[in-house]
Amino acid sequence: MKKVSWRNLISIADLTNDEIEQIFELADSADQLKSGRAAGGRIMATLFYEPSTRTRLSFESAMQRLGGTVISCSDMKASSTVKGETVADTAKVVSSYADVLVVRHYWDGAVQAMAEHADVPVINAGDGGHEHPTQTLCDLYTLKKEKGGLKGLTVVMCGDLKNGRTIHSLVFALARFEANIVTLAANGMELPQYVLERLEREYGYSLAPVASGDLSAVVTETDALYLTPKQPHQLALFTEVDSAIQNRLSSMVSGLRYDAFYMTRKQKERMKDGTTGGSYPTIGAGFLREERFKNTVVMHPLPRVDELSPEVDKDRRGIYFKQAAYGVPIRMALLKFLFDQRASGIVAAKKSRSRYESPERLGPQCANPNCVTLTEPSSARKRFDLLFTGVGGALILRCVYCDHRFKVQLVGHVKSKRYCAYDAALADTIKAWLKKNELAIFNSIKEAEELAYEPYKSGPQRTVMDEIEIQSAVQEMSRQIVRDCNDLDRLLILGIRTKGSLLAQRIGAELERQQKRKPEVGEIEIYGSGEELRRIPPGDPEASPINLKDRTIILVDDVIYTGRTVKSALTIIFRSGRPQSVRLAVLVDRGHREVPVKPNYVGKSIPSSERERVRVKLREAEYDEKDKVVIYSLISPVEGLEGKPR
Ligand code: NCD
Repeated sequence: MKKVSWRNLISIADLTNDEIEQIFELADSADQLKSGRAAGGRIMATLFYEPSTRTRLSFESAMQRLGGTVISCSDMKASSTVKGETVADTAKVVSSYADVLVVRHYWDGAVQAMAEHADVPVINAGDGGHEHPTQTLCDLYTLKKEKGGLKGLTVVMCGDLKNGRTIHSLVFALARFEANIVTLAANGMELPQYVLERLEREYGYSLAPVASGDLSAVVTETDALYLTPKQPHQLALFTEVDSAIQNRLSSMVSGLRYDAFYMTRKQKERMKDGTTGGSYPTIGAGFLREERFKNTVVMHPLPRVDELSPEVDKDRRGIYFKQAAYGVPIRMALLKFLFDQRASGIVAAKKSRSRYESPERLGPQCANPNCVTLTEPSSARKRFDLLFTGVGGALILRCVYCDHRFKVQLVGHVKSKRYCAYDAALADTIKAWLKKNELAIFNSIKEAEELAYEPYKSGPQRTVMDEIEIQSAVQEMSRQIVRDCNDLDRLLILGIRTKGSLLAQRIGAELERQQKRKPEVGEIEIYGSGEELRRIPPGDPEASPINLKDRTIILVDDVIYTGRTVKSALTIIFRSGRPQSVRLAVLVDRGHREVPVKPNYVGKSIPSSERERVRVKLREAEYDEKDKVVIYSLISPVEGLEGKPR
């Protein structure tokens, strides 16, 4: 990797809060910057692979006002891209013609890939559905000008939160400046899991449902969520009887003062055909008449389509044209900031991270199909950050380019050519392997075997539940579910993939046997790239998503230990609709909990320690075998390695 001696702006995370404030100060004195000709003699190249009006023109205007000049390809379809030139090559070449590159691309992570090949600073003007940090600078500056500061503000993010890159950069920034965030997503366009995960991991934000009546002027069928830096609430399961929790949540948000609505258009260009339907929140005359929104400003990164009525234009609260106008002073300030940093040789502070790149020919790949590592592998090496404290003590891979996250299933040791399923107790061993570049990560056993890896043997196994016991546990839990949930039509049995999903299907079948009626069964995927919630059996792909509103959900998993998996499942559930209640059924409760969740239905309690491993083996998953639950101790995979289980 080449040694970079300048600053890029790819993600809003590349700037500290102090630096953002510094840029705002520079923007305040844009007139002085103009007369100082801060970019005199410098050239900016704009490379826009996607349409743009504001971002491109305000960048070009900013550069010219700073006394610099601009070169540009009027249309990237008229560039060598159509001849098959990679983004890496384009970046390399153009950086020898210019002093700074401003790039917009339709692939997630493409601008990061280009920055790795460019010899000058690169600025991200929007990469796929990932980030748009300079829009965020304009948004924060606008908010600060209007409201006097950022800390403690409550901003409602509306519309397509899934594909809107401006949204993603902005929520991270708002979290950093300690603002409250309320999300009001169009159906099926909620904030992606990787964004929520980062909000929680890096900023300690967690989310709770908001009483939807509170935002009724803009909400139709959508539920709102409240993301807050203050921790008190929920994410313990709520059942009908836990109305206390519900009330606490309602009172928490009913006192909120809404400072701003940030509206966005539906990003149709990033959607598959057939997924663009459904209701969408709108802001219009009704909103303006609401007393409680009298001091709520309305923002929009523009262009708008029909989600924001022109009636708001004339109102003092509609500030989106001002927000667009700030694009010039903010981008002047940013360019000046980056040129100054380069001149004084300041480089970005190194973040202490565990970087991973497979030492083997085969290795993990990003599961986001729009990630540059998949769309143009020759421009981006498959690199990840390893995050060690994920769901259930899981090991998470974070794609360096697009930020999507995936759970590691199988790990191997390069020297001894052995592999095993990842387990939290192996964390120290894995870190030691990583340091020596001896860590292999596999997507499948087939992949490991193709590279001639053999499985590790673990300690002796003891069966703690046999087939008959498992069957009667499923029957008993099903009986209790029937007893507690009198309205079977509302019932939704939702299993956590993979084992929980298999158990959910068994409970579903058992309920059908007992009640002569088939309940709806679905599964939930916590780390994956595709749909998070789906029906079982997966029917018609055109069918509407599973409806969670007012349902009685039985969340099913095989084993509960730390409770983090359940917490993540709850996050997805709350984000996707407002059930009446959620109850938890687990086959095995291992005791110990990091997160305050208590299962409502337990097959068997098997208190066990961190160095033990409980595995539920179900015949559907491991053909040939009978159902059983086994317990065994973990032994360090490689003798003499420091990473003994704690
Ligand atoms: C946004 C973008 O391109 O992401 N526009 C902008 O830069 N102001 C928003 C959008 O296209 O919806």
